Amino acid sequence: MLKAIEVAPDVYWVGAVDWNERNFHGYTTERGTSYNAYLIVDEKIALIDTCKGAFVDELLERIADVVDPASIDYVIANHGEPDHSGGVPAVMAAAPHAQLVCGAPQGKAVLAAHYGDGFDFLTVKTGDTLCLGKRTLSFVQTPMVHWPDNMVTYSDFDRILFSNDAFGQHLASSQRFADEVGLPEVMVQARKYYANIVMPYGKQVTKALAAVEGLELNLIAPAHGVIWRSHISEILTAYREWSSGEPQERAVVVYDSMWHTTEAMAVQVAEAFVDCGVPVELCDLKANHISDIMSEVLPARYVAVGSPTLNMTMMPTVAGFLCYLRGLAPKNRVGIAFGSYGWAPAGPNDVAAALEAAGFEMPLPTLARQWREDTEGLAALRSAVCGLVRGEAAGEEA
Ligand code: FEO
Repeated sequence: MLKAIEVAPDVYWVGAVDWNERNFHGYTTERGTSYNAYLIVDEKIALIDTCKGAFVDELLERIADVVDPASIDYVIANHGEPDHSGGVPAVMAAAPHAQLVCGAPQGKAVLAAHYGDGFDFLTVKTGDTLCLGKRTLSFVQTPMVHWPDNMVTYSDFDRILFSNDAFGQHLASSQRFADEVGLPEVMVQARKYYANIVMPYGKQVTKALAAVEGLELNLIAPAHGVIWRSHISEILTAYREWSSGEPQERAVVVYDSMWHTTEAMAVQVAEAFVDCGVPVELCDLKANHISDIMSEVLPARYVAVGSPTLNMTMMPTVAGFLCYLRGLAPKNRVGIAFGSYGWAPAGPNDVAAALEAAGFEMPLPTLARQWREDTEGLAALRSAVCGLVRGEAAGEEA
């Protein structure tokens, strides 16, 4: 019998832990994940979120540890993405008198598109409330954090914010609180989650933060990972920083290489940042997954990308990274394109075009070298990057 875990008086975690999830639509989840659902037992009984469809039996078993699922009055769907709503049909079947609470109009639209419109919907907007007895739940719509339908639910009695995707982490754990797992590990996963899921929506995150800014918070209970109890100010500060669009003086050098020339250039680009006192990460695409690289891109002002020419374009690994980068749309960044070529600089030039298309400022010309880079050329490359970082008007021949 699976057990519910009481996270506050009469508030239970009844979700599912997905220990073996390793790829979340292209994002590597090396620590697995969880689909958190919360049961509030008051005069009325509310379930906040469900889970991925494959885990609904686990969810129902944990609910049954506390109440008969048939006694649920409200199923609150903060978000219709199937990792949270996949269990809706089975839960609504098990709770035949429940109303399905969701945001208007997008929440209902998303749920109806996935599961049909045969539920007793109760749609809500920002500022609407739902009385459960001692508790009054209030709703704040947070569109695009991370789909148009997202909302968060706040329980004033418990001072709990049920934040759905916001403040989440892909982290499987038998422990339910961030302070039990340890802040450094949880922040690594929260940062990766923000970089790969939330980054394109910084403006919307800023609005969502403003909406919850005045709330008294004992817990932030996200729909993935562990619950924030002791480190609420740390995660709020991190979200403010990440959503501000103001990167730090940090750098990431990303590359692939065929015969080590572009690799040698990448090392010198990285060393240039070291020379200038700028922390840098050097990421060979053969050894680093793009979703891990995005964690490093999130705080970095400088993103240098290198590719040799392969078949009159850049290498597919680099193209894949740049496609992913463009979609996640980091703001206010400086790009540097580099790479080697044999008879046509198409690879490094395509890198430059892709960075420019992704909105990067490109103050240096493309740093392209034919055949092999010699010691003098590598020194010139390093000097050009140093010059840029130090604000000098330095350049490198294309
Ligand atoms: Fe965790 Fe946007 O779903």
